[in-house]
Amino acid sequence: MATFTKISEDETPSITIHPSHKVAKINDNVYGGFTEHMGRCIYGGIFDPGNPLSDENGYRKDVMEAFKELNVPVVRYPGGNFVATYHWTDGVGPREKRPKRPELAWLGLETNEFGTDEFLKWCELVGTEPYLALNFGTGTLDEALGWLEYCNSTQNTYYANLRRQNGREKPYNVKYWALGNEMWGPWQVGQMTKEDYAKRAYQWAKALKLLDPSIVLILCGETGYSTWDSYVLKECVKWDVHGLGGDRTKSLIDMHSIHIYTADSDHAANATAPRSAERAIQITSSLIDLARIENGVPNTVPRPTICFDEWNVWDPKRAPGEQGAEEKYTLSDALAVGIWLNVFIRQAKDIGMANIAQSVNVISPLMTHKNGLVKQTTWWPLLLFSKYMRGGTIALNVRCAEYEGRTNPSWVRGTIETPWLDCSGCVSEDGWVNLTVINVHEEKGFETRLEGVKEGTVLVFRVTGAAVGVVNTESEQNVGIKEEAWDGKGLYMFPKLSMTLLRWKA
Ligand code: AHR
Repeated sequence: MATFTKISEDETPSITIHPSHKVAKINDNVYGGFTEHMGRCIYGGIFDPGNPLSDENGYRKDVMEAFKELNVPVVRYPGGNFVATYHWTDGVGPREKRPKRPELAWLGLETNEFGTDEFLKWCELVGTEPYLALNFGTGTLDEALGWLEYCNSTQNTYYANLRRQNGREKPYNVKYWALGNEMWGPWQVGQMTKEDYAKRAYQWAKALKLLDPSIVLILCGETGYSTWDSYVLKECVKWDVHGLGGDRTKSLIDMHSIHIYTADSDHAANATAPRSAERAIQITSSLIDLARIENGVPNTVPRPTICFDEWNVWDPKRAPGEQGAEEKYTLSDALAVGIWLNVFIRQAKDIGMANIAQSVNVISPLMTHKNGLVKQTTWWPLLLFSKYMRGGTIALNVRCAEYEGRTNPSWVRGTIETPWLDCSGCVSEDGWVNLTVINVHEEKGFETRLEGVKEGTVLVFRVTGAAVGVVNTESEQNVGIKEEAWDGKGLYMFPKLSMTLLRWKA
């Protein structure tokens, strides 16, 4: 949480840090990932049999190491738009018997060599939790129940036995399940009206929770600021549901999913665009409250959190999905990703999970080639956040000048500010205070007064580069992390076009 006071460009900015004012716990799942059957994300990304860099399962070892380094707590699968025509039964059992199918989201061919067991085993090896999305396009409730039974059941029943027959005795205990993906979108196979979706989601949710009450169900929202969001929340955030038996401590819907991608060809509009996501979170939070108030949900029933299960910088015209969406990220994009992450830290009270879309090759910070990996510019802010920005979000008061040019979307201007210094802070469980400051300005560094920093050793990690447009490639790393120390005295200079993470022991 941060308050912002606008001052003029020639005044000295200040950031007041309140380490003892913890505002909310940061859910570790904010550093979630997403792997879709799209482009080179699965095939050639996490799964690359025959490559010398892969293990005996065909999993790329360097990619697994990268996931471990990022400490990714949860990974969404198998889509995305892909899931709208995906039949999970195609992807289990002996490989030679699995059918090849036309793939309608990205207009490819799905071999089904990689499916449920391969993904869930990969999650175990990486040490991450799976999050599965259900097919609301061409799929049926029976099929969804079958998938849940296959993954989680210990009973002597058909799909649990099919899992055993396929070599896996104990259940996988998949906790997170999404009730479809972007069902509002005209590109979606089986696109629905909000009325049709809400009715279906509610019925599926009841049945899924009857089969396994321990799961976490995620409702399909839109951007968080649409009529769709408001309608489906109102229709589905209820508690007195058959199956919950009037239990005032249980809810049918545990999370509400929203998606936003930001991008602009002008640097400042690009870097400040994630502020739209911050406004979207605030609006969604109010819509959740509104649904609970109007539906008389008792406050003993857990309040749904927001699952921001697709976020990133992406311009689909620049990197079309049908061509694998291999964005080349610039320094400007790295700063935008830093601001995205600041948003999640500031709004920690409402965010139950966030998943960068995507985790490998497709609009991703991590790119594979046949001999290794490229860590794009956006990898570095993500790594620093995942390493240090955990624990409890803290209150900050920021005084600085503001970017006053064009924003993307245009409604950012007038609904939320765009300070040159975008900040978030937290205190980790082991007592370190962490402050992240992104200076978006293309020409100007800001000497800043930091109130609340302890004099002594302050560790400094900085992500920057020579110009907004620089990228990382196989042969050149133009953006990475530079480390230094500061004594905590006097003004601190945040250089132009930089993300700086300062940390000190409280
Ligand atoms: O992440 C790429 C695509 O973007 C996803 O498949 C879809 O859900 C969204 O439109």
